[in-house]
Formats: sequence, C-alpha cells, structure tokens
Amino acid sequence: MTKPNLLSGMQPSAGSLHLGNYLGALVNWTKMQDDYNAFYCVVDLHAITVPQEPAQLRQNTRITAAQYLAAGINENKSALFVQSHVPAHAQLAWVLMTLTGFGEAGRMTQFKDKSQKAGADAASVGLFTYPVLQAADILLYQPKAVPVGEDQRQHLELTRDLANRFNSRFGETFVIPEAVILKETAKIYDLQNPEAKMSKSGDPKGLVNIMDESSLIAKKIKSAVTDLDGVVRFDRENKPGVSNLLGIHSAISGQSVESLTAHFEGQGYGALKTEVLEVVLGAIEPIRDRANELLADPAELDRLLAKGAAKANEQAEKTLGIVYDRIGFIPARR
Ligand code: TYM
Repeated sequence: MTKPNLLSGMQPSAGSLHLGNYLGALVNWTKMQDDYNAFYCVVDLHAITVPQEPAQLRQNTRITAAQYLAAGINENKSALFVQSHVPAHAQLAWVLMTLTGFGEAGRMTQFKDKSQKAGADAASVGLFTYPVLQAADILLYQPKAVPVGEDQRQHLELTRDLANRFNSRFGETFVIPEAVILKETAKIYDLQNPEAKMSKSGDPKGLVNIMDESSLIAKKIKSAVTDLDGVVRFDRENKPGVSNLLGIHSAISGQSVESLTAHFEGQGYGALKTEVLEVVLGAIEPIRDRANELLADPAELDRLLAKGAAKANEQAEKTLGIVYDRIGFIPARR
C-alpha cells in the first residue's frame, strides 16, 4: 500500500529553531516520517516577507536544514528541500491568489499582528499574500497530513477553503489536507511572558534556542517567570509560568503532568527548574552538536538538499501541470 503524503515547513528567519518549533512540530515530524511519504521544506520565500540580510538568509537556511536532519529527519525516508528550489510554489501561489478574496486574506490574524507591528507602509504585499503561498506549499504535495503548532490553524483552514474552491470550480484536483496539531505541545510559551507563545520575535530571554550555548539556556530557564504561590501544580490560567515549565518537562520526558506534580510535591520552583533544564539539555544538546557537525560541511548539506529538491520538484510539477491544464492554459512546448 502506498503511504499518504505529508508536508510541513519552517521559516529560516533566525540563526536557530526554538523549543516551540522543536516540541510543537519537529518532534512530530520525525515520528510521522515512517508512516507517511513526507516532504519537509525550509520556506525561504516566506522568510523574505520581512527584510532579510542576504548572507544571513543563506546561512540561516542551511542552519534550519541542518537542525531538521540533526533532530532525526532522515533524508532517505523524507524529502528535505528548500522552497526556492521548487519554482512551482510561486507558480501555484499566483493561481491561488486569483481565487482568494481580498477580505479573506485581510482576516488572517498573523498578517494583522505582523502588519500592525511593521506599520501599513512597511508591510509588503508579500506579507499580505503569505498564507496563499503557504496554501500552495501544501497543496502541491497532495498531503493528507500537515503537522504544525496551534498558530498555523487559521492558515490551514484557508488552505482547505482554497482547495475546495478550486475543486468545485475546476473539478477534483487537490486532496483536502488536515492539520495535525498535538494538544500537549500545540503551544509552548515564552519563559518571560508565559501568556504569549514562544517566538523568534518575542523577548530573547524568554526564548530557548536549539543552537544556544548550554550556559545561556541554563540562565534563561533559571530566570523563567513563575509566581508567588510556591506550589508546583498545573493551572494554565492562574499559574502560566509553572504550567509552561511542567508542559515542557512532560513533552520531553514523557512523564504525565500528574506524575510530575506528585514528584515535585513539597519541593519549590528551584527543583522544578533544575529538572526542566536537565531534560531540555538532554534533548537539544545532541541536536545542536550534530547540526554543527553538518554545518561544517556545507557542500554535503547542499547535496542532500539537491536530492530533496529533485524529489519535491517531481511531485510539485505533476500537480502544477494538472492545475494549469484545468484552468485552461495551453501546454508549454519543451
Ligand atoms: P514557523 O517557522 O513560525 O514555525 C514552524 C513550526 O513551529 C510551530 N511553532 C510552535 N509550536 C508550538 N509552540 C510555539 N511557541 C511555536 N512556535 C512555532 C509552528 O506552528 C510551525 O508548525 N507559516 C509557517 C511556515 C510554513 C508552513 C508551510 C508550515 C510555510 N509554509 C506549509 C506548514 C506547511 C510558519 O511561519 O512557521
């Protein structure tokens, strides 16, 4: 039996992925690659919707790919590729833009947040159409599953709407994809501001990066915001900081929050932080070290990415060919 397809991606917009990317998505990616024909993309076209320094973007793209591999994405099982190496992403995005309402795109909350921060004139049209490019990323691969964190839910809904719209107008073409969002790790919170999601654009002190030095990670976890109650207990509303630490511990160690609460009974937040640090470092130190090894040989990394792009191009061109035909473009002679 052929395996169903899967696609997901991350932006190379920083020098490291963070603990939210890792627990919210990457861990699940590595688990799902056995049961799916998986495509994992580094979405560099998305990254340029906000200004990027060229040399830095190039480096961050390789760093992101290296972290996928180091976390366990196997290039023989899955296609690991860079979005700009597959021209069909931009081509399908154009087609889908013609099917997207202006108001519909304007309702995307990530666009509203980012454009508000940047100011109306600084926000580009690319930022506005970002979710349509994401829909193209997904639909080209006919995936059943798209493993992501909670913040991508709305973009997945738009993707499904666009796929249904295309299918009803031009005939069954796209598989309707499902977002795969794991409840426990759907949202990892900022250590300094535990009511907000951990994010590259948040407080650097609240952000645990995979590529950070262990001593820096220790500092950040030790100074994570907690509360004055002093009891280790899970209560997202009233104890967001402590709950976030318990959630991180549980996601990595596999121990339930209930058993952790029992384990920490009578102990203070210092003990909790010490253990959280231990499990976090246990998980990410090997990834960081392996990623650094891979980055020491960029030619080999580029070779792996070329192999992934060949596989991705094959699937993407097939879908784009059907789309172009259905909408009435005459075939291009080669
Ligand atoms: P990006 O690069 O912001 O994040 C990559 C993945 O990490 C998840 N994530 C989190 N999960 C839990 N807690 C957090 N604090 C947290 N922060 C980030 C995200 O949900 C995501 O799964 N638009 C996408 C990139 C993209 C994409 C795609 C994703 C472009 N095309 C196609 C899936 C399919 C983004 O900005 O992710």
